[in-house]
Amino acid sequence: MKADRDLKVYIKTFGCQMNERDSESAAALLSADAFSITDSEKDADILIFNTCSVRDQAERKAIGKIGILKRLKRSRPHIFIGIMGCMAQSRGAELLKEIPHLDFVIGTGQLHRLPEIIKSEIRKRHKTVFDELARPDFNALAAHLADTENNFSASIAVMTGCNRFCSYCIVPYVRGREHSRPPDEIIEEAEKLVASGVREILLLGQNIAAYGLDGKSPPKDAFSPFAELLEKLNNIDGLYRIRFTSPHPAYFNDRLIDAVTSLPKICESIHLPLQSGSDRILKLMNRPYTSAHYMSVVNKLKSKSPRMIFSTDVIVGFPGETEDDFNATRGIMNEVAFDNAFIFKYSKRRDTLAAEMPEQLEQKIKEERNKILLEDLAERTGRYNASLVGKILEVMAEGPSKRNSSRWAGRSSSNKIVIFEPESSVSSGSLINVKIERSTPMTLFGKIQVS
Ligand code: 5AD
Ligand code: SF4
Repeated sequence: MKADRDLKVYIKTFGCQMNERDSESAAALLSADAFSITDSEKDADILIFNTCSVRDQAERKAIGKIGILKRLKRSRPHIFIGIMGCMAQSRGAELLKEIPHLDFVIGTGQLHRLPEIIKSEIRKRHKTVFDELARPDFNALAAHLADTENNFSASIAVMTGCNRFCSYCIVPYVRGREHSRPPDEIIEEAEKLVASGVREILLLGQNIAAYGLDGKSPPKDAFSPFAELLEKLNNIDGLYRIRFTSPHPAYFNDRLIDAVTSLPKICESIHLPLQSGSDRILKLMNRPYTSAHYMSVVNKLKSKSPRMIFSTDVIVGFPGETEDDFNATRGIMNEVAFDNAFIFKYSKRRDTLAAEMPEQLEQKIKEERNKILLEDLAERTGRYNASLVGKILEVMAEGPSKRNSSRWAGRSSSNKIVIFEPESSVSSGSLINVKIERSTPMTLFGKIQVS
C-alpha cells in the first residue's frame, strides 16, 4: 500500500452548485492532508462520487456511472471507491448492498471527516457507512483549493440545510436543518479569495434569503440578515461581482429588494424559483406564497432596476396538476419573461409528502408539459437575445470558448454568455465592454469596444 501522500484522489460531482462547492471543499481538505487530487479517473487510487438525490434521474445517473467501475476495480483491485453527498445521506447502507464494489458511503453531515475516514478505512478495507447528519463543520465549508485556473470566480456556502419542507423536496431530509455561518467568517473567506485574485463571488444556500434566520419565519419587510450580509460583501475592495442562489420568494422582502437593487456589485440577474404559477398547486407544494406575491416581488425588482432579468425553477406534473394549473404556470412564465428556466418533471422522492399524494400524473403528461415550456423559453430567449444586438454589455472575461479556443467566452452582469475575439490585454476576470453583433437563443457574439 502506498503512503497517503502518494494516493491520488479523483472526485466527480453530480447535481447542483452546492455539490460543486462541497466537492471543492473535500478536495481542499484532502490536499491539505497530503493526498493529491487528480482529474484522471484511470490514475486514481481513491474515487469519490459526490451525488445528488433531488430527482430520480440524478440518482440513476450516479449509480450507472459507479456501476461501470466494476471493470476498473477488477483490473486495479487496490482502488477505493466511495459515495458522498445527498444520495449517500439518503440511502446509506443500502448502496453498499446495491453496488458490491463500493467501499464507503459518507453523508452530507460528515464531509469534514473525509481525510480521517479515508485514512483509517482504506487500510482496514472495511465497507463502511458514515451517515450521521451532524451539525456542519464551518471550517470545512470554508476550505478552498489554493489555485485553480478559474480563480477569478469562486463560490461560498453561506449556510447549509433547509427548514422549508416543500412537499416534493428531499433536501431537508438529506442536508438537515438550516445553519447559517457567522457573517464575519463569510467576509473573511471572501476577503481571502479576493486577495488571491477572485473578482466574482457566487453565494450559495438552499434557502439563501433566509440566511441568519435559521428556521424563523419569513421576516417583516424592514429586516433581512441576508441583505446585511450583501451590504458587507459589497464593501470589499477588489470584488466586482456578487451573485447568489437560491432565494425563496416568501423571504424576498422589501429590505432585500432594496439591497439587491441599490448595491452596485450585485449582478442584474436574479434566480427566483417559482415552482408553479397555480396558487392551488403552490399550496399543495407547501410553498407559502401566491402567484400574485411572486409577481409583486418581480415587479418591485424590475421597477427599481429595469435591466434586471430573471431565471427560475419550475416543476411540471406535480400530483394533481390540471391543464388549468399548468397554463397558470405557463402564463406567469411569459409574464415575467424569464430569460432562463430549469424545468423539471416531477419526480417522486422518498419520505416526502407529495410522494404519497393521489393523482400522480403519467410520465407522458409531464413530458408534454416540459416540452411546451422549453419551447416557450427558447422562443423568448431567442427574441430577447436578438434585441441585444447593437448594444454594449459589460462582460467579465472567463477564458477560451469550449467550442472554438481561438475565441473567448465571458458573462454579462445579466448572466448572458458572450463570445468575443480576445485581445492581449484581456485575461480571466477582466471587465470589458463588448458590442453585440449577432445572437442565438443560447449565446451572444460581439467585439471588444476600446473606450
Ligand atoms: N421533482 C422534480 N423537481 C424537483 N426539484 C426539487 N425536488 C424535485 C422533485 N421531487 C427541483 C425544484 C428545485 C430544484 C433544485 O429542483 O424546482 O428548485
Ligand atoms: Fe427544497 Fe423547498 Fe428547501 Fe428549496 S426551499 S431546498 S425546494 S425544501
